[in-house]
Amino acid sequence: MAGRFSPMSRFVALLATVLALGVRGETLTMATEATFPPYEFLRGQEVVGLDVEIARTVAAKLGWSFRVENMDFDAVIPAVISGKASLAASGITITEDRKKNVDFSEPYVKTGIVVIFPKATPFETADQLKGKKIGVQSGTTSETYVLEQLHQEPERFKSTPEACAAMLAGRCAFVIADIDPAKNCVKGEPALAISDFLSSEEYAIAVPKGKSDLLAAINATIREAKADGRIAAWLAAYTAESDALKDSESADRAAVAEGSAAFVGAIAGLRASVRAFWTALCDDFYLCFFKKAADGSSRGLYLVKGLGVTIEVAFAAIVLGLFIGFLVAVIRSSHDKYGYFSFLNALAKVYLTIIRGTPMVVQLLITYYIILRSVDSKILIAILAFGINSGAYQAEILRAGIVSIDPGQMEAGRALGLSYWRTMLRIILPQAVRNVLPALGNEFIVLMKDTSIVGYIALIDLAKGGDIIRSQTYSVYTPYLTVAAIYLVLVMTFTWLLGKLERYLRNTGADVVHNNS
Ligand code: ARG
Repeated sequence: MAGRFSPMSRFVALLATVLALGVRGETLTMATEATFPPYEFLRGQEVVGLDVEIARTVAAKLGWSFRVENMDFDAVIPAVISGKASLAASGITITEDRKKNVDFSEPYVKTGIVVIFPKATPFETADQLKGKKIGVQSGTTSETYVLEQLHQEPERFKSTPEACAAMLAGRCAFVIADIDPAKNCVKGEPALAISDFLSSEEYAIAVPKGKSDLLAAINATIREAKADGRIAAWLAAYTAESDALKDSESADRAAVAEGSAAFVGAIAGLRASVRAFWTALCDDFYLCFFKKAADGSSRGLYLVKGLGVTIEVAFAAIVLGLFIGFLVAVIRSSHDKYGYFSFLNALAKVYLTIIRGTPMVVQLLITYYIILRSVDSKILIAILAFGINSGAYQAEILRAGIVSIDPGQMEAGRALGLSYWRTMLRIILPQAVRNVLPALGNEFIVLMKDTSIVGYIALIDLAKGGDIIRSQTYSVYTPYLTVAAIYLVLVMTFTWLLGKLERYLRNTGADVVHNNS
């Protein structure tokens, strides 16, 4: 065995290497929210649209590589402010408030917001909006309109299509949105129509304050593309593409609506509807997981890739957590029993207090936006955040295990001539682990399921994968129930493996020293 603190120093070295590898090169990262045709929308798994074309042209002009980050709209500007993204191109309206936090390019489109309304309750004047439930996309100028012009709280949704779906389901009276995506929303919906402009706005690209070179490249690109007609051509092409997409989606949705009706019917008159239920289920399964999207991939791919991410993050975090847990537990219990390591013990206490005193989501966001903001790999960020978090809980579980071992064991080890660390590693820890294995297993299972919050940092895991399928197909049963089933199988398999390990350790007896040699 190596010197006293070598596990700690090895860990620090590993961390440093990993951080160095993650540091970003010359990449132009565009932050956006891709439910906003024709400016940005999904063609299969790829984000396309006018904004993407402009940003890609800027990247080419600078000789940088290019990447699009799809996130919630209310995260788009924060991504620029925090430096996570080089620019935000997301149909962003120039406003005085936003100007305080970011710099804007020259405008590239003149537009405005409108009301989307059910034809059954035609919209004529703004007075009609007062006191009604009004759906908006969270973080947009439509939200500001409801708050500041109507002096009321809007119903906030993740996207305009979601707000429209809610309106169709009778959950809000009107929706306010930018005109182009609004047109796309009412396309193929005979029950919906849109009003005249409520306000006029201009779109521009947002960059971090003071990036004058980048801003100059963006402005030049916009000017050139306006002059040679590329902006108009892109607008026309992407409007046509997104309209066609909407038509095919409407057809899909009609099928889902039938499917959903069949679900309800099946529950009511179970026997009569078993066959319809089965067909609807198969259709829904086909639509959600196997039907090929425009780019030739099927949506099930989100779940397959997502499962990979979930497993990778969970297992790496468990291992990292175990490592931290062992270290902290040994330090804490050595201090309590023998007064060793006062300084490290104090550090460990601070670590435990902070990690256990703040929510996991907040730790994840802080790691992503503040501590590791220059690290590119979101998987790595998630592993570190979850590993460090779980380490605190594992440390306390392991400490309980160590404390439960009779002090005579340590004395016996020392009397036999083993060093403190050797006795700890070879005699105390194996018994301690065996005693607390059920509690550790619990912690592993919680960690595995908790990774489902990584969607917050735009990492597509199993849960987020299901969510994306739901948002594309408007089908709720199949994606969510399938995701739940996959987690269940994952946890059951893991529980079974832990059970095996527990039995194995029980049968080998306490005499781990001899078994190890
Ligand atoms: N123009 C509006 C705003 O800036 C809405 C933009 C929403 N964009 C999007 N890609 N979802 O607030």
